[in-house]
Amino acid sequence: MTYSRVFALTILFLALQTSTADVSGNWIARIPRGDGTSRDTYFNLKQEAGRITGTIRTTQFLYKIVESTGGAEGFTIVASMMDGQNPRRVTYEGKLAGDELRLGTRARPEAPLTELVARRAPAGEGAYPTRLPLPALHKVADNGLARTPPMGWNSWNKFAGRVDDAAVRGIADAMAANGMKDAGYVYVNIDDTWEGQSRDANGNMTTNSKFPDMKALADYVHSKGLKIGIYSSPGPNTCAGYEGSHGHEAQDAKTYAAWGIDYLKYDWCGARNLYTDDEMPAVYQKMGDALLEAGRPILYSLCQYGRNDVWKWGADVGGNAWRTTGDIRDTWDSMTRIGFSQDPLAPWAKPGHWNDPDMLEIGNGGMSDDEYRTHMSLWSMLAAPLLAGNDLRSMSGPTLAILTNREVIAIDQDRDGVQGRRVAKSGDHEVWARPLAGGAHAVALFNRGAAAAPITLTWADAGLKSAPAKARDLWAHADVAVNGPTYTATVPSHGVVMLRVAP
Ligand code: GLA
Repeated sequence: MTYSRVFALTILFLALQTSTADVSGNWIARIPRGDGTSRDTYFNLKQEAGRITGTIRTTQFLYKIVESTGGAEGFTIVASMMDGQNPRRVTYEGKLAGDELRLGTRARPEAPLTELVARRAPAGEGAYPTRLPLPALHKVADNGLARTPPMGWNSWNKFAGRVDDAAVRGIADAMAANGMKDAGYVYVNIDDTWEGQSRDANGNMTTNSKFPDMKALADYVHSKGLKIGIYSSPGPNTCAGYEGSHGHEAQDAKTYAAWGIDYLKYDWCGARNLYTDDEMPAVYQKMGDALLEAGRPILYSLCQYGRNDVWKWGADVGGNAWRTTGDIRDTWDSMTRIGFSQDPLAPWAKPGHWNDPDMLEIGNGGMSDDEYRTHMSLWSMLAAPLLAGNDLRSMSGPTLAILTNREVIAIDQDRDGVQGRRVAKSGDHEVWARPLAGGAHAVALFNRGAAAAPITLTWADAGLKSAPAKARDLWAHADVAVNGPTYTATVPSHGVVMLRVAP
């Protein structure tokens, strides 16, 4: 072959190479999280006839590509998914550069571009797990736990992904020493982000570098006379994109038992990509059964944001508590929207099985002390789990006083476990009442308005035949005089007056 022929063929070959350059295949973009794991985004792409189709998976979300323009030399893809009733969309701009896919994405159109580099996934990696057969429904035996609503602490509201072994030990130390343990707080619960990058060779769950030895940590928490909780998901991934328990339910329950875990929060998240809301009972029953078989009493807390009327089946799948709403935030608006919406769920709460309007935000700084007193009072009227969500190692005196108000805690922990209800409402003013063991009642006067105001309650509304013989103001820690068919108190803006009354 002449030199010019070789040259021409080479040019032709290169031209063909470029024109067939294609983004089809499985790609993984890894962002190290600093705990020995990475936050991975998977791109399963197919390029044909000027179009790119496929899926994008990041943390708990599996998106389907719905729009694309361009090709390997430069493309934009838009992918979408349904998150319950809400559509979510992501947009990536990218191009093929040698062996890499260089990508950029924005959380919002005006947000800065986050740059990613994806590499071809090794064979067998990057494919999304498939559905597993679901068990027939049966009634899971009661584990005998949570005769009163669980009390303790959870890492998520304050620490989110920053929780580690030292923080959990510090929280346990604080809880044991500052009066919280004496007031009834017992569980120290680690939320999402303790998990390792992947399972070990035998499929056992591993921890990431923030939690070097979970058994030792559990031993430490137990040595303080406290109990320890952990978190997982029935899906392949947790909300933060760590390993979930999908297909490893029995194995994980045994691992938790071996570590000495006393409480599991089980968060739907990644399961949404494989199962429908109608299938939640069967999916949750799997872990309910697994925990009973694990050989250690483990409180079972369902977290699926109140979907599919969980209060109707949560107890049957072994749940000791079930979240009734989406995530709380440390604002008056979020806390009251959740708390004051719980009235219709009252019939479903009972000893061993509680409605859970989410963890406390008391002391996290977004509300005033009056607002936090409302939070504590309302949750106690609701017989809700009391899981502090602040940094117990460094809290103010007023925060500790709110969290450890034993008279209010006694309402939450009443042994009859009857959830309180709204008995009167006039504009921003609400009266709630809760029957207690032995014929007493708790009543709470809430002022959701912008100005202090007198609020009047009628004993008949609160379920009493006549004025009670004894009444105690649970925030003033003082007995109050009552006579006649009504009681009136001036309630601060966003505040509460809470009484325990006895015949
Ligand atoms: C969900 C839950 C939260 C918390 C986070 C952790 O949003 O509702 O309570 O557990 O996941 O990723």
